[in-house]
Parts: sequence; structure tokens; C-alpha cells
Amino acid sequence: MKKILITGCAGFIGSNLVNFFLKKNIEIVGLDNLSTGNIKFLKKALKSQQFKFYKKDLLNNEISSHFKNISMVYHLAANADVRFGLKHTKKDINQNIIVTYKILEAMRKHNVKKIMFSSTGSVYGETNQIPTKENAPFPVQTSLYGASKISAEGLISAYCEGFNFQSYIFRFVSILGKGYSHGHVFDFVKQLRNNNKKLYVLGDGNQRKSYLNIDDCINAIHKSINYFNDKINIINLGTNEYLTVKESIKIICNTLRCEPKIFFKGGKRGWIGDNPMIFLDTKKIRKSGWKPKFTIKESIKITTKYLLDNQWILKRKV
Ligand SMILES: NC(=O)c1ccc[n+]([C@@H]2O[C@H](COP(=O)([O-])OP(=O)(O)OC[C@H]3O[C@@H](n4cnc5c(N)ncnc54)[C@H](O)[C@@H]3O)[C@@H](O)[C@H]2O)c1
Repeated sequence: MKKILITGCAGFIGSNLVNFFLKKNIEIVGLDNLSTGNIKFLKKALKSQQFKFYKKDLLNNEISSHFKNISMVYHLAANADVRFGLKHTKKDINQNIIVTYKILEAMRKHNVKKIMFSSTGSVYGETNQIPTKENAPFPVQTSLYGASKISAEGLISAYCEGFNFQSYIFRFVSILGKGYSHGHVFDFVKQLRNNNKKLYVLGDGNQRKSYLNIDDCINAIHKSINYFNDKINIINLGTNEYLTVKESIKIICNTLRCEPKIFFKGGKRGWIGDNPMIFLDTKKIRKSGWKPKFTIKESIKITTKYLLDNQWILKRKV
């Protein structure tokens, strides 16, 4: 049986990927240091013989022994938060660049040639090309997160050229759905659970962003890997729509049945490095026959309800 390795397996996207592959009867080795992930996300998986979990820090622990007899690595572990990059400038470098290098070296040692990498639409910075294609010219990077992800993409591409690896690099918009544990819906639901009369919003609320449901994201990853077969496959993942933060607030408040007074901090960006518009061109992934099942509005509703039903997640420190 094929055995795959998933880094960041206890995180939002990683744990959904674990559950997806378990249903396909695939053996999985999962690595995670539980820094932002939670073992509760793996509750079902831990009961399965097909899944072996190792609590490992990919930056500081020796990890290469786990790569023996692995057919493909799904590399999701990262510092996934864009917002606080300037508060700890080394974090993105260590967690997103150095860890990726360690993964590539472990793969090289054990002759593992295939890697899936979770990159981001943030790599396009404040691009003028909307919707943004995979081959859009790169403007100046606006966040350390985006800069670290594009550096990791560079490393992966160089290993593909140099050591004949094959890569699937996905540039995601923000992902929503079950297991969601960070981002604007999290921030707003958390605030409104504490006090549903007031809501503080970063920026002017007119930022336009695209989002994708986790089930659509996982299906797109799987479909792409079976459909595209270049040495380096770079693929945008998103929907054909976007929403303003103000529209998103309306959906969240309707779902929570509240009408708070809203205080906007002002400015076009929520923070330095926040891109006022993220909207990716998804023609390439659609060539595979994939299309999303959920609209953004449905995904925001689903996510709000999910957080209400799983309020322990709201205790996560961001
Ligand atoms: N969620 C999104 O909207 C989104 C959008 C674009 C890209 N991504 C990318 O997708 C990937 C997964 O994101 P997520 O939303 O699931 O984030 P997450 O924080 O829920 O998951 C990341 C996981 O990696 C683990 N981890 C971090 N550093 C580690 C280390 N040094 N050693 C071992 N484990 C470590 C964490 O404990 C966590 O379980 C990340 O690479 C992220 O940058 C996410």
C-alpha cells in the first residue's frame, strides 16, 4: 500500500487531509509539534491502524527517519498567520523556509521524489492583475509570510530541477469550514461571543477577499495531483467570487442573530502586509474538471456555525 507523510497533520488543513486519505485506505505518517494544531482534530484518525502520529518539531528535531518508504510528502506545517510577521521576524524564516529545506533534504536522503506544498495567494502581494494568474509578474512582497512562502516555492523548484523531484505547489486563498481555527471569521465570532453589541474591525471593511471551503480545497488538491503531471505544477486554488469584509460581517451577524455597533479602525489594509484585494484566476485548476461545491456565503455560514458548536477552538491564542 502507498504510504504518504503529512506535516502539520494536526492543523486545520492537515487534519482534514488526514481524514480524506484515511477514507481512501492510504497509510499516513503524520508529523506535528502541536504549536497551533490540536490533537482533538485527530481524534478519529488516532483510532485508525492506517495512521501513525509523531509529535515532532520539524525545525529542531531529527525527522529524516520518518521519510523511509514514503511515496509523497504533503507539506502543510508552517507559521500560517500572515498578520504578526513583523512582531517576530525570524518565525516565518524558520518555520516556512528552513523547515521546508529540512523536509527537502529528508526527502533527498530517502529518495522521496514527490511533494505537495501549501503556498498562498499572498505571494502575489498587491498585484495589479486581478484576477491573478499563476504566471502574473511578482510585485514587491508585502508580508514576511508571503516572502517566506515564495522563498520556499523557490527552494522546492530548485530541488525539482536539481534532483528530479516533482512538485505540486498550491497557492490558496483563505480557507473556511470544519476545523477552521484562524482568520477573520474566527476573530469576529470570538469578539461577538464575548460581547454581541460591539465589533471592532481592522481596516475600513472594504477589503475584498476570496475564500474557499476546506472540502473543495482538499478535493482540488487530490484532483490536481492526479491530473497535472509537469515537473513543477503551480496551481491557484479559489472560487470565482469575492466578498468584502463588510459583507462577511453581515453573514456572520445574521448567523449569530446579532446587530452590533461596528467600529472600523480605518485604512485600506487591516495591517501592514494585508492585501486589500485577493482574487485568484482559477482557470488552470478548472481544466482538471474540478469546481467548488460551496459559495463563499455558504462557507462563512458553515464556519460560523462550526465555531459556535466547537467553542473550545475560540480559546486558541492568536
Ligand atoms: N488556512 C488558510 O486559509 C491558508 C491559506 C493559504 C495557505 N495556507 C497554508 O496551509 C498550511 C496549513 O494551514 P492551516 O490553516 O492548516 O494552519 P494551522 O496553523 O492550523 O496548521 C499548521 C500546522 O503545522 C504545525 N506546525 C507549525 N510549525 C511546526 C513545526 N516547526 N514542527 C511541526 N509542526 C509544526 C502546527 O502545529 C499546525 O498543526 C500552511 O502552510 C499555511 O501557510 C493556509
